[in-house]
Amino acid sequence: MIKKTSVSLLVVCVLVFFSATAFAGAHGKKKPMKKGILLAAFGSSFPETQGVFEHIEEKVKAAFPNVPVRWGYTSHIIRHKLAKQGEHLDSVEMALARMMDEGFTHVAVQSLHTIAGEEFHGTRRNASAFGDMAGGFKKILTGYPLLGTSDDLKRVSDCVIKIIPKQRKKSEAVIFMGHGTHHPANAFYEALVYRLQKKDQNIYVGTVEPGIDEIRDALLKKGIKKAYLIPFMSVAGDHARNDMAGDEDDSWKSILAKVGVTGVPVMKGTAEFDCFVEIWVDHLKNVMSHFK
Ligand code: CO
Repeated sequence: MIKKTSVSLLVVCVLVFFSATAFAGAHGKKKPMKKGILLAAFGSSFPETQGVFEHIEEKVKAAFPNVPVRWGYTSHIIRHKLAKQGEHLDSVEMALARMMDEGFTHVAVQSLHTIAGEEFHGTRRNASAFGDMAGGFKKILTGYPLLGTSDDLKRVSDCVIKIIPKQRKKSEAVIFMGHGTHHPANAFYEALVYRLQKKDQNIYVGTVEPGIDEIRDALLKKGIKKAYLIPFMSVAGDHARNDMAGDEDDSWKSILAKVGVTGVPVMKGTAEFDCFVEIWVDHLKNVMSHFK
């Protein structure tokens, strides 16, 4: 009885061995590791912002010279707007499908968003779904956005202070325009304000919605007459040009002008400054360290 069992066990083992080698031999040789990076940005309809994305890509390529870099854009509206002008950009999912087809095995998706809001979580959810697919990636991980951790809050607040125009006097305000979201991650903006105001009481961070009213009132109370307006978004795109610095009645510049505060727009997005880009790149490094 014992003998019979061990013989059949041996047969099973041999069968398993042969079938395993048969799989590795005739069909699908074990895929060699092929690492890739996918940069996931919201996107912008302004062609001028293309240089900003190139700047990020340069930094990423410098950190990972031998890893192919692809792009995916999360904003449906922007992709469709650009498609009408003849420029076809991939969504994150389209870019990943192409990478899957090209035989990438390990993919680092780096979110270039500001906070871990809807765009980030959607990207992460869909990216990980690609890891579950038959023939999908062996490993796919998504790196944190700019403000992902408490350490990021510290680094971002240091960088924010650094990029304030040198000519600004301490008695003048600096107002950053974040995008804002109904997602709970919106609280990161408040956390950033807390950190910044510990360093400088006249720095504010508002969001497109609900807007600048509260900040305007605070400025009036303090008797501040001048405020620098700076986008706290990766690129100085539509919101910065229109909602922040535009001539329309409801732009931040106009709202401040109505109460006698001169707004001085600074048209540069966070991705134009190395100290912010380094944070995204560090999150990417963290993801890549899992691919060995
Ligand atoms: Co928007």
